Amino acid sequence: MNITIFGGTGVSGLLTIKEALESGYHVTVFARNPEKITFQHKNLQIIKGELDEADKVNQAIIGADAVITLLGPMNFDKSLPISKGVKLIIKSMHQNNVKRLVAAVSSSFRDTKDKFHFWIDFGVWILKIIARNSILKDIEELGKTVENSKLNWTMVRLPKLSNQKPKGKFNIGYSGDGKVKNFWLSRADLAHFLIKQVDDRTYLHQAPIVSN
Ligand SMILES: NC(=O)c1ccc[n+]([C@@H]2O[C@H](COP(=O)([O-])OP(=O)(O)OC[C@H]3O[C@@H](n4cnc5c(N)ncnc54)[C@H](OP(=O)(O)O)[C@@H]3O)[C@@H](O)[C@H]2O)c1
Repeated sequence: MNITIFGGTGVSGLLTIKEALESGYHVTVFARNPEKITFQHKNLQIIKGELDEADKVNQAIIGADAVITLLGPMNFDKSLPISKGVKLIIKSMHQNNVKRLVAAVSSSFRDTKDKFHFWIDFGVWILKIIARNSILKDIEELGKTVENSKLNWTMVRLPKLSNQKPKGKFNIGYSGDGKVKNFWLSRADLAHFLIKQVDDRTYLHQAPIVSN
């Protein structure tokens, strides 16, 4: 089975590539800075490109069974590069009949099931202060684009990420539902959770917050 990963060159992305390879998948990574991937594997191919290069995005998606994105805005770019890139990814997925999309998205993107919860809302508020306007707009547009797509999507909404060792357990739910008890997730656990979603339809068309 073939997985294409976007945003694979961040810390969580690198862990996600390794987790996918260890799980036996053939992995294609689309990266603007491929040199950040310092390991090799017989089942790993890397396509270098920018998110606005439709042909290269298409090349990365042809033949995929599922796409995972960990793309997230990093600077205050008013052109909203991430959501535009994800629109191109989704267009290419439709063209190539690739249906499964697993997207890691900041929990500053709210879901209609979210209710008030002091610590989660406080965490989101901090994220919003750190992120500023153009980043928040890009995340909002990213979330809406995935939600409105006709794909088999799952959004994994993220709290603050840590580099702690994996715990192997998860609190999965929505703000204020009593299931999400803190606002941290280890990147290693995130990688594991994302790969598990490729074959697991439990959260199809859902956008839970995942923490541990
Ligand atoms: N850190 C947190 O606490 C936190 C909280 C909530 C959500 N998140 C989100 O969780 C995800 C993983 O976080 P992380 O800290 O492990 O990794 P990260 O370092 O934020 O990785 C972001 C990824 O997105 C890519 N990217 C960003 N802007 C891009 C652009 N304009 N064009 C092409 N690629 C672009 C980066 O590529 P390059 O390597 O080439 O730069 C990298 O692969 C990210 O989406 C992040 O926004 C993080």
